[in-house]
Amino acid sequence: MTTTQPISGSLQVEPVSHPLEPLTVAEVTAAVAILRAEQSIGNSFRFPCVTLHEPPKDFVLHYQPGDTFEREAFLIVLDNATGTTYEAIVSLTQGKVTSWTAVPGMQPNIMADELAECEAAVKAHPGFREVLAKRGIHDLDLVVVDPWAIGNFGFADETGVRLSRCLCYLRHRPDGNFYARPIDGVVPVVNLNTMEVLRIEDMGIVPVPPEPSEYAARFQPKLRDDIKPLHITQPEGPSFQVDGHHIRWQKWQFRIGFTPREGLVLYTVGYEDQGKLRPILYRASMAEMVVPYGDPRPQHFRKNAFDLGEHGVGMLANSLKLGCDCLGEIRYFDAVLTNSRGEVSITENAVCMHEEDYGILWKHTDWRLDDVEVRRSRRLVVSFIATVDNYEYGFFWYFYQDGTIQYEVKLTGILLCGALANYPKYGTLVAPELNALNHQHFFCMRLDFDLDGVENSVYEVNTVAEPLGPENPYGNAFYAESTLLKTEQEAQRIIDPFTARYWKVINPNVQNRLGQPVGFKIMPGDNVLPFAHPDAPILKRAGFMTKHLWVTPYEASERYPAGDYPNQHPGGEGLPQWTQANRAIDNTDLVVWYVFGHHHIPRPEDFPIMPVAYSGFTLKPLGFFDANPSLDVPPSQPRHACH
Ligand code: NI
Repeated sequence: MTTTQPISGSLQVEPVSHPLEPLTVAEVTAAVAILRAEQSIGNSFRFPCVTLHEPPKDFVLHYQPGDTFEREAFLIVLDNATGTTYEAIVSLTQGKVTSWTAVPGMQPNIMADELAECEAAVKAHPGFREVLAKRGIHDLDLVVVDPWAIGNFGFADETGVRLSRCLCYLRHRPDGNFYARPIDGVVPVVNLNTMEVLRIEDMGIVPVPPEPSEYAARFQPKLRDDIKPLHITQPEGPSFQVDGHHIRWQKWQFRIGFTPREGLVLYTVGYEDQGKLRPILYRASMAEMVVPYGDPRPQHFRKNAFDLGEHGVGMLANSLKLGCDCLGEIRYFDAVLTNSRGEVSITENAVCMHEEDYGILWKHTDWRLDDVEVRRSRRLVVSFIATVDNYEYGFFWYFYQDGTIQYEVKLTGILLCGALANYPKYGTLVAPELNALNHQHFFCMRLDFDLDGVENSVYEVNTVAEPLGPENPYGNAFYAESTLLKTEQEAQRIIDPFTARYWKVINPNVQNRLGQPVGFKIMPGDNVLPFAHPDAPILKRAGFMTKHLWVTPYEASERYPAGDYPNQHPGGEGLPQWTQANRAIDNTDLVVWYVFGHHHIPRPEDFPIMPVAYSGFTLKPLGFFDANPSLDVPPSQPRHACH
């Protein structure tokens, strides 16, 4: 039964300046209160997601300042008492729930509160103490229980139960690095709805690796002392302007958003050209990532975290520190999130924005005239960092003065290791008796291109060598061959470095001054395909990683390439399912999904903490402008060299 209660005065929400502004503290509070009141939501419910329900794209594209608009929140709630997941839309404008739907059988992401409660439940379980005692471990304060998603391997007893499978570690000392000391082969399995320990898998005693493997400064015998200070100063302040979450930096304009699942989202990215703001992307975010591990043994084969769908990188965002995470004149943005009970939880300084000098933008010396023209490159950096258990991921967008957009993931943190001697086939020995597991990281970007309008097309471009013949008598000729990708299935593509393959998104209805359609190219960086067997459960669950490029017609509900609820899901949903319809994608409102994989055969130098590794791709204007758009960047003032 549904009851409606009036909202108290304190929940009145102030209007916001734009329909894509993230929910404010007052709006999140109101959304939870309205849903609680109308659906009689009691203490058995958790709130895995409270976020802006984005208004329809068409509405936003036609929105003019001053227009009225409805504010809506999208919520996912989980009833621990029944195990049922619900989706709700709350109208903050009307103060009521406008949609309430059960999504039976679906498991929302694991929440931070669940992790803490799960660890406590395992530690309180007598059977857990027994398996530890068999290993001579008696001090529970040194033991860490790290709950992981259990995956889906078709085991009947794991269906329909919200489960976590925990990895266990033993700290060397109370403030020591536990990830270096796995208690290998002890795996508690917990029902997260009841916090009941269902079983403790014991795969036999493997000694805990002996070394403490500490990385924190306090454990280092000596820190190097030959680094002089390096200050980034901008005495007149940064060159960007911020209005709410709207950013303007030189000729770039965009809005930022933040969701519990994706973290940073960019909206309405455009570039000002000859007095006109030209749209490039309507919405861009990382939409899923997955980390399949390559060790087949019983304690390791399930390791393949979906860091968005199973955990939510927005929920796991760090609160950044000036001078440490970010250098220079920084503008931070907070993330307004909730804990699992629906209480507002603010991650301060979750998103960092600043400018960086990026070397030379362009240069030429006419030595006959003794004329040197050189420009410094400046880029705008918008980023956040998430800690997902052992790993850290930095998610970085870069905007350049020549119209280039770059996306880069910075991977750091601590390798996931197993304990054993003499069996490093599926990993690398990184410390005595400690095996860092082989793995890959796959990132899937959802890029809703709107180049000079919503109707766009995608071409694949391969470079082809002209055969020897009358037209190519000396064998030197080669050319770029563009092939239109007309349907979803034609657009399922992988990289080919040997043809210098790239993909270009164009607007076939708009030409530059040379008569070429305006476009951007998607330039792959390092990339790889999965090594999992085609029949492996992980390939069914993360089918998106089998291709580097997917293109779909725009559909607001198609947001997540492995489906809306990958946690414990058997797979098949998302991109592989949608694209079976083989819809037309030519000259239409389309969404490009670019997938990039980072291959990780660990090195000893990646341990005990991994120096940052980089992975990403670049979007470069391709006939989008009539010429180099950075001719108007002024020369820098020369300064004196240091003595
Ligand atoms: Ni890695």
